[in-house]
Amino acid sequence: MAKFYITTAIDYVNGNPHLGHAYEKIGADVIARFKRLAGYDTFFLTGTDEHSLNVARQAEAEGLSPKEFCDIMAGRFKSAWDKLNISYDRFIRTTDRDHVATVQDVVRRLNERGYIDKGTYSGYYCVSCERFIEESDIVEGKCPLHPSRELEWVEETNYFFALSKFQEPLLKHIRENPEFILPASRRNEVVNRIKEGLQDVSVSRSTLTWGVPFPKEIDDSQVVYVWFDALINYLTGAGYVPGRDEFGKRWPADLHYIGKDITWFHCVIWPATLMAADIPLPKTVFGHGFVTFKGAKMSKSEGVVVDPLKVVDSLGADSLRYYLMKAVPHGQDGDFSFEGLAEAYNSDLANDLGNLVNRTISMVDKYFKGQVPSPTGVSEPLDDELREVGQSAVRNAHKKMEELDLTSALGDIWTLITAANKYIEDAAPWVLAREGKKERLATVMLNLVEAIAKGVVMLSPFIPEASRKIWYVLGLPGKPEDVRWDENLEVANLLPGIKVTKTGPLFPRLDMETSDFATGEFRLAELAKEKKKEGKAKKADSPEKNLRSAEKEEAKKGEADVKDLISINDFAKLDLRVAEIVEAERVEGTDKLVRLEIDLGTEKRQIVAGIAQYYAADELVGKHIVVVANLEPAKVRGVESRGMLLAGFTEDRKELTLITVDKPVPNGSKVS
Ligand code: MSP
Repeated sequence: MAKFYITTAIDYVNGNPHLGHAYEKIGADVIARFKRLAGYDTFFLTGTDEHSLNVARQAEAEGLSPKEFCDIMAGRFKSAWDKLNISYDRFIRTTDRDHVATVQDVVRRLNERGYIDKGTYSGYYCVSCERFIEESDIVEGKCPLHPSRELEWVEETNYFFALSKFQEPLLKHIRENPEFILPASRRNEVVNRIKEGLQDVSVSRSTLTWGVPFPKEIDDSQVVYVWFDALINYLTGAGYVPGRDEFGKRWPADLHYIGKDITWFHCVIWPATLMAADIPLPKTVFGHGFVTFKGAKMSKSEGVVVDPLKVVDSLGADSLRYYLMKAVPHGQDGDFSFEGLAEAYNSDLANDLGNLVNRTISMVDKYFKGQVPSPTGVSEPLDDELREVGQSAVRNAHKKMEELDLTSALGDIWTLITAANKYIEDAAPWVLAREGKKERLATVMLNLVEAIAKGVVMLSPFIPEASRKIWYVLGLPGKPEDVRWDENLEVANLLPGIKVTKTGPLFPRLDMETSDFATGEFRLAELAKEKKKEGKAKKADSPEKNLRSAEKEEAKKGEADVKDLISINDFAKLDLRVAEIVEAERVEGTDKLVRLEIDLGTEKRQIVAGIAQYYAADELVGKHIVVVANLEPAKVRGVESRGMLLAGFTEDRKELTLITVDKPVPNGSKVS
């Protein structure tokens, strides 16, 4: 099986994950999920870049050691990506022990080969970019990317990497391997800059202590420069073994998926380092564009930040994933707006996709008692057209995905969703039902279910949660990810006999006038921008404190998972009971809530639980769960709940698991 090793940039942890970071991780995740579907043995690496000067300063401002600070922040990034369903295989941190060993080994290797030399550096440094800025790039005394931040003058005796020796080899490699830098526009920028000449670059810092220590035998007073350390994460993630030429089955990387601001590091310094170390080069570096907010680059230091998690809390991960992949075209910049997101949600997800699925399921339910009918052989040109759109969508989207043009692939997939909606209107199943044309009606319903199933397989890299749900309510076996992309053309074989489950709206419509999301959030982000304009925003140079004190306390204790202790008397106040679920149904108009009727032995009662994304109502009936029986009653979305069930997340936080009993016990038994 061919392998595919994909990496993202690793994020600085001096601030919370923002929408720009999220965009990159989502894009890479869509590619990784697609590659898995296409049959590649895929490995997806992401993580955090922790040895920056910014981090050291921020930690100091918070009264924490850099490592304590990084532990908290890396946790935030990791849980943000979990919430967005980023299917990484490893979350690497540059403070990981194996990474430190890899970095030191690479430095040793370069030194042995004569590519490292001591020299004196003097020049300007941008702490936001964590890079030395050449005089010719300085704009009005500032870094061009961070105009609100002062540059810092640095004069140090450092170790330098002999980048200047690689001008010709790099140009040759880029010439002979046009897929090395994508899109082509980035390649031209890089080539032009290489042609201007390459200077040796500093790879150590002597005035810092927060970093990977330089190998002792070379110099024990320096640390490795953060960028040099960071790039090497791609080798660590591939299973680099210090001291061995051959390593990992994953290297060379197939794709470094990174932002356009860091192409210089990835397309020049990184390949030159690998050439010097005699390690094969990655196949492709793709420099994606930026997500802007009202035209400005999303950036913590520039005060333009949209919190992706707030969006997820309001509309779910799939909505953000879908919108970003649609709004930021292949390799270019794209603007994020709350109105744009709400519009894409309502019109594409709620109307086009959600309604298509709900209408189809309702009709299969009504006309065929929920059982998808078998093929009848009666087919009309209308049917062939829909099938043709489906086959082309599978082929075209595949090609676009291979080209990493995710936006166009999404467009191709949507042609099928649009065609299926049109097919409903043209075939008018309700008329066929009225006229008693049962055979024709069966063909129409089968074709619709097939179109949806095909669409869902292709959509699963983009909107994995909704895709799984649709797959489930259609009654299809397994998960949409289990179908290989090239088998998608035969998805029809899975259909006859499956039984659909009626469900509430997949994407409940957002009321643009009243919803908190559409109005409140939008105003907040606007206000932040206004504030910045008026110069009232915090001075970027003074690290702002952003950790809650409880987080700090926990970091210091080094026991982030242990909560405050309670006494046995406190515990005794809880009335935990075993209860049997006797009825379950989705709370109408909600995405997450289920109303359960539970049997507590001496009484039956109703509880409401937010588990609809993880369990279908049918699956729940008959389970013996554990509930807190003496919780005071509360109303959840207007429905009374008398008690609370216990459940926990699985290790990857992607599934919820109910706490159940593993031997039969009478309903109402006390748990202690
Ligand atoms: N730590 C370095 C990368 C080292 S990789 C060996 C870094 N970190 S970063 O936190 O500043 O950026 C991480 C990634 O997020 C980069 O690829 C960057 O381009 C991307 N983005 C940051 N803001 C962005 C947008 N507004 N839009 C899209 N991506 C952007 O650079």
